[in-house]
Amino acid sequence: MCGIVGVLGKHEVAPMLVEALKRLEYRGYDSAGIATVQNGKLDRRRAVGKLVNLQDLLVHEPLAGKAGIGHTRWATHGAPTERNAHPHRAGKVSVVHNGIIENFRELREELARAGLAPETDTDTETVAMLVSHYLGSGLNPVEAASKALGRLEGAFALAFLFDGEEDLIVAARKGSPLAIGHGSGEMFVGSDAIALAPMTDRITYLEEGDWAVVTRAGAEIFDETGTPVEREIKQVRLDQTQVDKAGYKHFMAKEIAQQPTVLAEALGAYLKGDEIELPAPGLNFAEVDRLVLVACGTAYYACLTAKYWFEKLARIPVEVDIASEFRYREPPVTKGTVALFVSQSGETADTLAALRYCAGRADRIVSVVNVETSTIARESDLALPIHAGVEVGVASTKAFTCQLNVLLLLAIKAAEARGRMASAEKSELLAQLRALPGLFNAALDRDATIASAARQIAEARDVLFLGRGMMYPLALEGALKLKEISYIHAEAYASGELKHGPIALIDKSVPVIVMAPRDGLFDKTVSNMQEVMARGGKVCLISDARGIEEAGDGIWQSITLPEVDERLAPLLYALPAQLLAYHAAIAKGTDVDQPRNLAKSVTVE
Ligand code: AGP
Repeated sequence: MCGIVGVLGKHEVAPMLVEALKRLEYRGYDSAGIATVQNGKLDRRRAVGKLVNLQDLLVHEPLAGKAGIGHTRWATHGAPTERNAHPHRAGKVSVVHNGIIENFRELREELARAGLAPETDTDTETVAMLVSHYLGSGLNPVEAASKALGRLEGAFALAFLFDGEEDLIVAARKGSPLAIGHGSGEMFVGSDAIALAPMTDRITYLEEGDWAVVTRAGAEIFDETGTPVEREIKQVRLDQTQVDKAGYKHFMAKEIAQQPTVLAEALGAYLKGDEIELPAPGLNFAEVDRLVLVACGTAYYACLTAKYWFEKLARIPVEVDIASEFRYREPPVTKGTVALFVSQSGETADTLAALRYCAGRADRIVSVVNVETSTIARESDLALPIHAGVEVGVASTKAFTCQLNVLLLLAIKAAEARGRMASAEKSELLAQLRALPGLFNAALDRDATIASAARQIAEARDVLFLGRGMMYPLALEGALKLKEISYIHAEAYASGELKHGPIALIDKSVPVIVMAPRDGLFDKTVSNMQEVMARGGKVCLISDARGIEEAGDGIWQSITLPEVDERLAPLLYALPAQLLAYHAAIAKGTDVDQPRNLAKSVTVE
């Protein structure tokens, strides 16, 4: 995804645009650019790569103006080059865009017939050309933008700036989030409240299909039929928009370290004594016949973990699906089904599409999100916040454990509602959950040992993760963490699957990371480790002291965690997997917070 921002300011806007783009860089960092209007003239500066390259350019080639737009890009159409960097321009109009225009080729052909040829490979330039074409036909900027918006298919958040218009931004949202910020004599637009936080905490979230005519006097908002609509101005909580490293080298390190705190805060938000309190309108699990859990990436692994809890504790049949598969398979969604969507950003396109497929089919649409104002949250019957705080690192860490936290609370509530968990068992399990942040702190104290193992793992070309039961989704998450920030190829298998093929991969060059608390399945996992070591494989065992001892000699590396109730192990065992990936990435010298090719939330298909 990309980040967009716009400012109608009282002062020079270039520094404000850059500051906002810094706070949006987690959304994409292939290139960045700004455009301003100064003395009626549009001008722009763009640079490939990280935002710092644009900042360097602006030192040597400053850009004046009190009205401007800005963009940080995750490339969809066209390579990450300066030519393809936003803002794009055609004639008297400049535009920044987050999303994909799916019909841009036919629009290009139409414009070519009118004698207009593109200069870039991007879909976004086509939008600028279309508006410019309508301007040329005699329409004014608002009319031209509005007419062009009606021609666009796909997902977009757009902000337009016009030659000769020093007090006008036209903004639009369809499928990608867009917020309007209200200042004093100034107005702003941005992909999210985080970007606008240094300038205002008074935010209006555009609804699907909305577009807005923004001037320093305010915003006139219209729905996609062009009917004027009123949208609430909300006061956002500034703690929800804090994005600084607080002394850590990377956001990821900070967010890993925050887990004890945010987990405790989340429990405080949901637990009143032993009562698990859900936001209105609540959910009666006694009437639920089936749960469908849908997500992407790390959030999907949280769903795979939750399947064990809902089925084992509450005896509810659960199906888990990757959103991009679910949405096109169009599975039957029968009566008695609750569809639950997990998403840190609440803007992931595939997950949102899956939610929309279930709307009107499932009995209830429930979401577990970190951004309470996100599209997925707003389109759910019941949105459950995970209270992780802003997560900036592209590799999800605290959001994952906070997702698990909420999913486990739901499973416990379901078990109680279905008479599957007596109050004594519930109290005991909740007491363990309240004590979990303390175990996280103890696990964080193993950082040096984990870093040492990680530096050796970083020398490998291929790494395997193994786990049984609830540790299998954790192995999947550990493999994803490692590959997405260190670029080392890593795969995960259910331990029992090793002998069905993957064991052919084993030799002394392949570290095998086994995630296995000393639980009821541990003996089986010991056998798997023996199979690996018998073939020269190097086992790194993550377990508790009993497990490490029972595993015996021959283990290559071991990471000892505190003992934990096996029902809570998935939360605690996420931490060493996160730290292994973090330290391996440090050893490899990759960009921990902004790994290549990735973006924090994928708001395009
Ligand atoms: C996790 O480390 C990845 N960055 C990615 O898999 C992410 O979990 C996935 O894109 C889903 O994002 P969401 O939770 O915002 O929907």
